[in-house]
Amino acid sequence: MNTLPATMIAIDPDCAGGPEVLQPVERPVPRAAPGEVLIEVAAAGVNRPDIMQRRGLYPPPPGAPTILGLEAAGTVVAVGEGVAESLIGTPVCALLAGGGYAEFCVAPATQCLPVPAAISMAEAACLPETLFTVWSNLFQRAYAREGESLLVHGGTSGIGTMAIALGRLFDLTVIVTAGSDGKCGRAIEIGAAHAINYRASDFVEEVRRITGGRGVDIVLDMVGGDYVPRNLACLAEEGRHVSIAVQRGVAAEISLWDVMRKRLVLTGSTLRARSPEFKMLLAQEIEQNVWPDVERGRLRPVIDSLFPLADAAEAHRRMESGKHVGKIVLVR
Ligand SMILES: NC(=O)c1ccc[n+]([C@@H]2O[C@H](COP(=O)([O-])OP(=O)(O)OC[C@H]3O[C@@H](n4cnc5c(N)ncnc54)[C@H](OP(=O)(O)O)[C@@H]3O)[C@@H](O)[C@H]2O)c1
Repeated sequence: MNTLPATMIAIDPDCAGGPEVLQPVERPVPRAAPGEVLIEVAAAGVNRPDIMQRRGLYPPPPGAPTILGLEAAGTVVAVGEGVAESLIGTPVCALLAGGGYAEFCVAPATQCLPVPAAISMAEAACLPETLFTVWSNLFQRAYAREGESLLVHGGTSGIGTMAIALGRLFDLTVIVTAGSDGKCGRAIEIGAAHAINYRASDFVEEVRRITGGRGVDIVLDMVGGDYVPRNLACLAEEGRHVSIAVQRGVAAEISLWDVMRKRLVLTGSTLRARSPEFKMLLAQEIEQNVWPDVERGRLRPVIDSLFPLADAAEAHRRMESGKHVGKIVLVR
């Protein structure tokens, strides 16, 4: 017997703009296509790319829903062709191409991970986007190894707090930057080894001082622009620079001599555009290497605040205020 409703509440703005465009609207409940599950959403994570999408600067890839939301947690209520019916009733969190800001969403079954008893649905909803992004960039692109050091800008962001948590789990020394002493204090509480207030001191000099002149092995950079040459100055020999965002611009002038002299590697990636096959393999790698720590309660996201789905506009205002530490979550 199918008891699913025909329609649902979702945040699906019909034009780009400020937070006020995020009004709850009625939309058809999506259907699970072959290989997909339909999730009754309990909570959805808010990410900076959602703000870019709302402003019209980051359109959903072809075929992705226009409803916002790159991650969600909830209960599987239906499955598409080729997906085991036994999944129905399972609590899962999922990496989405879009659609999380809604009462129901669909996800490829291969991008779902089970929600263990150790964490809440709100916590689970915060994991996929940051965990998949940080894991793939740190370990797959930058080859992070136990004992290495890492500089992370935006240390109290959703991404930054996940980088601190993963760094602690995998024995990396994490140095972060943040824009206030208060945020630096929080970063240390969360587990950063050092936190530099970039408004009060020069992070290049501070990194040199902290590392005794050696530099760090990896920079995880969400700032770009004029930070890039300064990041390269922070890197040790054989260092790796990973770009994941360009908040201060896409263009950077760097010294190729530095790259040659220190044998640096410059790389980067964007998660949303990757193929379903890549995301499936990444989910499997995370399930194998990280999920046991989630199950034991050793890895959990830092939550800043919860907002009802209908108040998505307030959630975006909170993120755009820059006052948050960790993740902002929409709940039912
Ligand atoms: N490549 C990918 O696949 C991927 C995936 C997900 C997210 N991202 C990117 O990762 C970044 C973080 O995402 P999020 O959801 O965690 O966002 P978030 O919580 O809003 O964090 C943004 C952070 O950026 C810092 N920041 C902003 N402007 C800055 C500037 N001019 N200089 C230095 N720091 C600045 C802020 O720190 P302060 O207030 O301390 O300055 C803030 O902590 C975003 O840029 C997002 O687009 C990339």
